[in-house]
Amino acid sequence: MEDVFVRKLYLKNYRSYPDLYLALDPGLNILVGANAAGKTNLLEAIYYLAAARSPRSPRDVELIHWGQEGFYIKALVTDGQVEHTLEFGFRSGRKKSIRMDGVPQERVSNIVGLINAVIFSPDDLSLIKGRPDIRRRFFDGEIGQVNPRFLSFHQRYYRILMQRNDVLKRLRRNRAVPEDALVQLQPWDEQLVQAGGELIVMRLDALRQWGALTQATYRELSGPEEELDLAYESSVGGSQALTSRSPSTEPPTVVDWQAAFKDALERARETELERGHTVIGPHRDDVRLTLNGHDLKEYGSQGQQRSAALAIKIAEVEWMRLETRRSPVLLLDDVMSELDISRSQRLAQLLDRGTQTILTCTDLADVDYDVLEGTLWRVQNGEVIPVVERK
Ligand SMILES: Nc1ncnc2c1ncn2[C@@H]1O[C@H](COP(=O)(O)OP(=O)(O)OP(=O)(O)O)[C@@H](O)[C@H]1O
Ligand SMILES: [Mg+2]
Repeated sequence: MEDVFVRKLYLKNYRSYPDLYLALDPGLNILVGANAAGKTNLLEAIYYLAAARSPRSPRDVELIHWGQEGFYIKALVTDGQVEHTLEFGFRSGRKKSIRMDGVPQERVSNIVGLINAVIFSPDDLSLIKGRPDIRRRFFDGEIGQVNPRFLSFHQRYYRILMQRNDVLKRLRRNRAVPEDALVQLQPWDEQLVQAGGELIVMRLDALRQWGALTQATYRELSGPEEELDLAYESSVGGSQALTSRSPSTEPPTVVDWQAAFKDALERARETELERGHTVIGPHRDDVRLTLNGHDLKEYGSQGQQRSAALAIKIAEVEWMRLETRRSPVLLLDDVMSELDISRSQRLAQLLDRGTQTILTCTDLADVDYDVLEGTLWRVQNGEVIPVVERK
């Protein structure tokens, strides 16, 4: 397995950093700093290199240093023997610009997969407790990190969805009779169904692998008495088990999903005209987690929910390694202090493999620093300075 890592990072007007230059350790980097020092902002910027978006906010404009017009990120990424430069520029009101090795890239999908990253943060609990759109955005974003084709279909689907919603809004305003609506909606329906079927099947393919790894990781964390299951709840075609499936049943194909989606749209037509937007489709689907058959969100204890969130993330690292034959960069945002011993030990197993890791903490005592080889950094006043002295 080749190691991919961020060798150098330059940030201009990104969040709390007006101007930051860093030469990172290819192994472990420990960032220590007080609250609000800028630790999470830095991890977010590194994640941006992999996903071309922030893991926290879907809007690039929030990433611009206050009072400035845009931000710029440049990184030198080492992939085995090869080095690449990656540049992202964004100005408010414009499309983000991307360059790889100096060459402008029209599509995010062109650069996706050059480097991957997984971020662990206390926010991960919202994957369990949060609303469906949080899970959708997360799973879609991560599948998009390893699968450019998914990313293209995702963008296409959401573009069609927005246009179709505009048509529905107009039809509602004009109180269109269903026959007229049918004529106007039909071309959009076809495109929506076409892209939507592809999207669902690609999601399911990824989530079955990722789900099985999540189930196995949860078992390691919590013992054999508790069985975590994941299911894909589709607004189009009901519930699809992701972790247990009878071997005889063939999963539905793209064509099956497209047909089901088409039928469901026809059934939903009246509701859609009433509400003025698209009420079914992959943009309404969800991933449901159950523990011994009981909904984890509703019935799980804090500890069970935390373990499940951690299992999803650890499994994500394994899944990315299998999919890409490389290790993602690990970004651990202040997580060590939150975990009990068995969970932090399981997490520490991931760090053993020489993968580039950037770990933050407010207090070095939370990290088993003595056993970890790496570079220690202090984050303060918009600067990130190496600490030479060992405590
Ligand atoms: N767009 C922005 N421009 C300038 N500053 C910003 C921007 N967005 C966030 N900040 C500031 O960045 C700081 C937070 O940084 P960050 O979240 O990285 O802190 P942290 O070191 O992770 O803190 P904690 O230990 O509390 O998690 C806050 O002071 C916040 O006001
Ligand atoms: Mg933080």
